[in-house]
Amino acid sequence: MVAFLLSKYQGSVMSRVAIVTGGTRGIGGAISVGLKEAGYSVAASYAGNDEKANAFKAETGIAVYKWDVSNYQACVDGIAQVEGDLGPVEVLVNNAGITQDAMFHKMLPEQWNAVINTNLTGLFNMTHPVWPGMRDRGFGRVINISSINGQKGQMGQANYAAAKAGDIGMTKTLAAEGAAKGITVNAICPGYIGTEMVRAVPEKVLNERILPLIPVGRLGEPEEIARCVVFLASDDAGFITGATLSANGGQYFA
Ligand code: CAA
Repeated sequence: MVAFLLSKYQGSVMSRVAIVTGGTRGIGGAISVGLKEAGYSVAASYAGNDEKANAFKAETGIAVYKWDVSNYQACVDGIAQVEGDLGPVEVLVNNAGITQDAMFHKMLPEQWNAVINTNLTGLFNMTHPVWPGMRDRGFGRVINISSINGQKGQMGQANYAAAKAGDIGMTKTLAAEGAAKGITVNAICPGYIGTEMVRAVPEKVLNERILPLIPVGRLGEPEEIARCVVFLASDDAGFITGATLSANGGQYFA
């Protein structure tokens, strides 16, 4: 992982506990490392890939926990386990997400449901159990990883774009509800970042249909999203809530 130049934020957050869902790989892995380097006590959740999660734990020293964010009770139990081990969750990064791309005329109900259940309902399942504690303590940071494709739509992603647009609506609503309780809630909309998810796009589509639309002329780096998260989690970002932060290399202005 690329080192972070975030010393400005270190020190004030030593005891804060952060959960990063889908936090052992891709953008989530970079977020977990970024928060750890900024001084947080990090729990990275993952859904299925034990081998990669254990390798991540060995490499970074970050605690990993296995549960499925699309299952409400699994989230309740997983969060309770993290809080027992590390303490109350003050920062929640809802990053876990999947794609099941298909043109709408070919999309199966199962593909629709799987993506909505993980990428949208997963935010409810994770945020609902930590919300009362954040309200009681008068502090919280919820950072939702949406997507450029939730802002603009995307061929082959009716399910994903709908979920990611829903994440933005939920972000704004929770920002309004949380503001008086010291809880900020923001969304980050990454563009095309160089992760396994994006590299799974057919090469011809990626090279001919997507890359030419990115004015900076490259895919983003996971660490570029992680730095946004570390800032939004910090005390310095206390006046920012309900925002949608686009990090997409100029591909879409929203
Ligand atoms: N942008 C523009 N055109 C696209 C496109 C895209 N993202 N995806 C597909 N197309 C075009 C194809 O180029 C093709 O056009 P031509 O016939 O003119 O060549 C047409 O749509 C049909 O595509 P396919 O021949 O590939 O049709 P298919 O049914 O075999 O597959 C598909 C459809 C599953 C959607 C496949 O094209 C695909 O995976 N596309 C990529 C979709 C995409 O952008 N997903 C984003 C994943 S990354 C992510 O989600 C992270 C994030 O937040 C940004």
